[in-house]
Amino acid sequence: MFEVARTDGIANVEFLNHVLDGLTAQHKALNPKYFYDEQGSYIFDQICDLKEYYPYQAELSLLPKIAAELNVILQSEQSVVEFGAGAVKKIQPLLSLIKSIKNFTAIDISGEHLRSACATLQAEFPNIDIRAVEADFCKPVELKSEVKENRLGFFPGSTIGNFTPMEARRFLSNAKQSLGANSKFLIGVDTKKSPIQLHHAYNDAQGVTAQFNKNVLERINRELDCDIDVAKFEHYAFFNVAKGCIEMHLVSLVEQSIDIDGVEIKFDVGESIHTESSYKYSPKQFEALASDAGWKVEKTWLADGDMFSAFLLSC
Ligand code: AVI
Repeated sequence: MFEVARTDGIANVEFLNHVLDGLTAQHKALNPKYFYDEQGSYIFDQICDLKEYYPYQAELSLLPKIAAELNVILQSEQSVVEFGAGAVKKIQPLLSLIKSIKNFTAIDISGEHLRSACATLQAEFPNIDIRAVEADFCKPVELKSEVKENRLGFFPGSTIGNFTPMEARRFLSNAKQSLGANSKFLIGVDTKKSPIQLHHAYNDAQGVTAQFNKNVLERINRELDCDIDVAKFEHYAFFNVAKGCIEMHLVSLVEQSIDIDGVEIKFDVGESIHTESSYKYSPKQFEALASDAGWKVEKTWLADGDMFSAFLLSC
């Protein structure tokens, strides 16, 4: 049975307030969760098809092996909960190969995109109960299934890297609470590697990542009735070696001001809006982070060339 639940929509007022807070701060910034309206989710799917954006394929290559091993480890009935499920593509090898999965709850902030992806998935897996929950998984999420423990959390794609390490720790301990006693958590995490390779992954030749980044300004125009000239901003992404993360910015190419709900926001030429950080972790660093949040690393998998990692955590 395909069921839809809506626990939390993004009201425009919340979006407006966050945009105003972010753009009137000393260092202008926007939360990366605002990339993912319908248009942004669609562009993100195109990023995943780029040859430069290695994390998607690298993680996908690991999943059949992980699923086969989990099929042996997870013998009792499982409820799987995916945080930030997007196009629900990564769950498919797990649903196919882990025989003990009976329920699957997909949580994502982009409701329309999620609901249509879950409807397709339900047709493919008629024996598994699939629920789409539109919610901001950065906040604690109350899970409504009858199952209160023995859940398997799933957080692929290195989305954890889009949190600061402090936010990542908070997310991991909130997830521990939401999933309940005796739960496990399968997480995909991007590894440290050549800064040049990282640079190309976030500066693809076709400019899809630039389009993804700029979509947040288009979204402000669409939803907050603004007329920002997006061409006056440039996509700029680089690997900050000291912090261990890719930083994505939109840099103003001219001195300009924009009007958002009657508030004038001024930009100097060269001033940036910090739109995303994408932290990369060595296995040792991630293990320390998980342990600070109360999780133990039960298993670690590394993709070819150590391009990507996956961890099975238990509490
Ligand atoms: C979703 N997240 C893990 C992606 C990343 O790599 O940080 C988002 C992204 N930003 C630019 N390209 C992809």
